[in-house]
Amino acid sequence: MEQYAIKGGNPLVGDVEIGGAKNAALPILAASTMTDETVYIENMPDVRDINVLLQAMQGIGVMVKRTGRHGAVLNAGNINSLVVEDEGIKKIRASYYLLGAFLGKYKHAEVTLPGGCDIGFRAIDQHIKGFRALGARVVIEHGLIKADAQRLVGSHIYMDVVSVGATINVMMAATMAEGMTIIENAAKEPHVVDLANFLSSMGANIKGAGTDVIRIRGVQKLHGTEYTIIPDQIEAGTFMFAGAVTKGDVTVKNVIPKHLESITAKLLEIGCQVEEADDCIRVVATRTLEHTHVKTLPYPGFPTDMQPQITVALALSKGTSIVTESVFENRFKYVDELTRMGASIKVEGNTAIITGVEKYTGASISAPDLRAGAALVLAALTAEGYSTVDDVRYIQRGYEDFHLKLQALGAQIELVETEKDYQKFKLKTG
Ligand code: UD1
Repeated sequence: MEQYAIKGGNPLVGDVEIGGAKNAALPILAASTMTDETVYIENMPDVRDINVLLQAMQGIGVMVKRTGRHGAVLNAGNINSLVVEDEGIKKIRASYYLLGAFLGKYKHAEVTLPGGCDIGFRAIDQHIKGFRALGARVVIEHGLIKADAQRLVGSHIYMDVVSVGATINVMMAATMAEGMTIIENAAKEPHVVDLANFLSSMGANIKGAGTDVIRIRGVQKLHGTEYTIIPDQIEAGTFMFAGAVTKGDVTVKNVIPKHLESITAKLLEIGCQVEEADDCIRVVATRTLEHTHVKTLPYPGFPTDMQPQITVALALSKGTSIVTESVFENRFKYVDELTRMGASIKVEGNTAIITGVEKYTGASISAPDLRAGAALVLAALTAEGYSTVDDVRYIQRGYEDFHLKLQALGAQIELVETEKDYQKFKLKTG
């Protein structure tokens, strides 16, 4: 079984190139099925979730041709099924984006109920409410969500919670509904805007993406396009925190600094130096980090997908910090693992009370989910001695070449498969 072997202690120093945003690429790939014409995508991250979605799309007749590692040419003109129940796709939550895309174009879709990271109950009521408001009949049967409509008609929809997934799904369906749809209390994440830009480049009429009111005037047909996906905000944030916790000097390149403002603000608060340029950010940490409080919120608030990474940093800071998770209900599962490395954290409901310690010590730990897995790797990189991180498949869902990018910054990390490999790593780094 693959695991990361890590020897902590090296400050990370250097530049790291950030890839395309997974959470933008997933809905964009799904939306590329809304035209019979050819779509060219660039800056697609080579990560497991993307590859699983592409495979499922190929399974129903979408032509997918990879152009290099980060590009693809797609043509959905010969789709042969609107039923997606691929085994692999159950594991990725974004499979449900095919619902909005198919419902919009074909007025019919059947997609297996989504999986994804186990970070709490993940409702889909707002997706269903939005589809129904557009006139679709939606049922859940035999593990599939089925949606169909004679015609989709624009509607005024007020989302009860700010949901990235529901905003994206309803936006896709509404793009090919008759008349005007208004989504209120919409999610404002950069990937919502990226999908809106992608759909607009295919001929959709969408206004207000990035604000909490999105207006979509339905069109009858979408056409082919060429599109470059935005950089990954969370991958960038993870490497910025890698610089901070290892007392390093890391520059994340090919980023949109505006998307990283809430992360930058917290790094400044905890005593890091942060320098911004047009498309890169440098994070320098030279002394023990300061404590602070943080509450996760929808964009432009501090992202829930960065919560484990900031917790890893705060657990090494001077004083007491409070982290409140307000987006997902069960996102502190990794704290037990961090405690095994010496952290002092008490979790009460959706709050973690953190008393900073001087250092972590290496341990054998497991990645409980994608972002927490990456955060535990950061902890191991700063820990005294050796660690192993199991279940790296979670991390590979969303980070391309994670250990190679860390290695290039000076980290002592390797992907090993056997105990013998691990011992070799220890000999080499001992
Ligand atoms: C997306 C991201 C995920 C990120 C999250 C929040 C993708 C593939 N995943 O997940 O990485 O952590 O946004 O930024 O882009 N909710 C409902 N009803 C619904 C839908 C959601 O109550 O119909 C609740 C959820 O339980 C959760 C909150 O709304 O408490 C936010 O969820 P949502 O924004 O939908 O997250 P995802 O789109 O699943």
